[in-house]
Amino acid sequence: MNAAPRGQDFPSLFPLNVGFAWCDQSEDPGARLLPEENALLGLTASAKRRRDFTLGRCCARTALARLGHGEPGQAPPPILRGEGRKPRWPPGIVGAITHTGGFAAAAVAADGDYLGIGLDLERLGRRTQRLSRKILRPEERLELEALPAEKRDTQATVIFSAKESIYKALNPATGVYLGFQDARIALSGPPDAAEGALNWRLCKSCGPALPAGFTGEGRYARRGDFVLTAVWVTHP
Ligand SMILES: CC(C)(COP(=O)(O)OP(=O)(O)OC[C@H]1O[C@@H](n2cnc3c(N)ncnc32)[C@H](O)[C@@H]1OP(=O)(O)O)[C@@H](O)C(=O)NCCC(=O)NCCS
Repeated sequence: MNAAPRGQDFPSLFPLNVGFAWCDQSEDPGARLLPEENALLGLTASAKRRRDFTLGRCCARTALARLGHGEPGQAPPPILRGEGRKPRWPPGIVGAITHTGGFAAAAVAADGDYLGIGLDLERLGRRTQRLSRKILRPEERLELEALPAEKRDTQATVIFSAKESIYKALNPATGVYLGFQDARIALSGPPDAAEGALNWRLCKSCGPALPAGFTGEGRYARRGDFVLTAVWVTHP
C-alpha cells in the first residue's frame, strides 16, 4: 500500500528558476512515452520499470513546460538516455528524475543558471543498520545515534536520499563517481519535519572547480512514508 497521502503532493523544494513536477500513477493513468523513449526501454522491461520510466519521462516533460522550455505549439522533445542511465536533456538544460513506488518527480533548469540539480525520492523503512553503516560517514553515524530511536530511520533515509541527489547533480557534469562516504550531509532541523534545509560538503574532489571541501545547499521534505530531497549547484 502506498502511504504518500493524496492531496499532499510534494512541493518544489528548489529555487524559483527551476521547473519542477510531481506525479502519481493513479492520477496520470494515461501517461505515455514518446516513440524514441519507448525504444530505449526495449521489449524486456518489466511492467514496474515501464511504469516508473514512463512516469519519470512524463514528469520531466511537465517540468520543462513549467520552466517555459520550447516554443508554443512545438512538439515536446524526447528525453533520451546518455551514458549509463543518465537522462540526456535538450540542449541548454540540466535536470534530474526520480521514481519509486508509483510516484515520480523531475526538475529542470537552464544550464547557464546551474551546473547541475539533483532530486531523489525514497521510501522510509528500508535502511537497515548494515546499509546505514555503508551510507553514513562516521560523524553522520554519531549524529544519528544521538537522536531518539524513532527518528533514526528518517534521518538515515534523508541522508541517503540527499547523497543520491548530489550524485545526480554532479555526475553528469563531472563524470566523477562519488561513493556514499564522499559527501557529508547536515540537516538544519529534525529529519521528520514536513520540510527543512540541508547543507552538504564534498569529501572528495570532483575536479578543480569542485574540490574536496566544496559546499552546497539543498532541502528535504517528508509526506507520509516518503522523503524527497533536492540539491542545486550553481557554477563555481
Ligand atoms: C544513479 C542513482 C543515483 C539513481 O538513484 P535510484 O534511487 O537508484 O533511482 P531514482 O528512481 O531515484 O533515479 C533513477 C533516475 O536517475 C537518473 N540517473 C541514472 N543515472 C544517473 C547519473 N549517473 N546521473 C544523473 N542521473 C542519473 C535516471 O534518470 C534514472 O531514471 P530512468 O532510468 O528512468 O531515466 C543510483 O542508482 C546510484 O548509482 N547511486 C550510487 C552513487 C551515489 O548515489 N553516490 C552517493 C554520492 S554522495
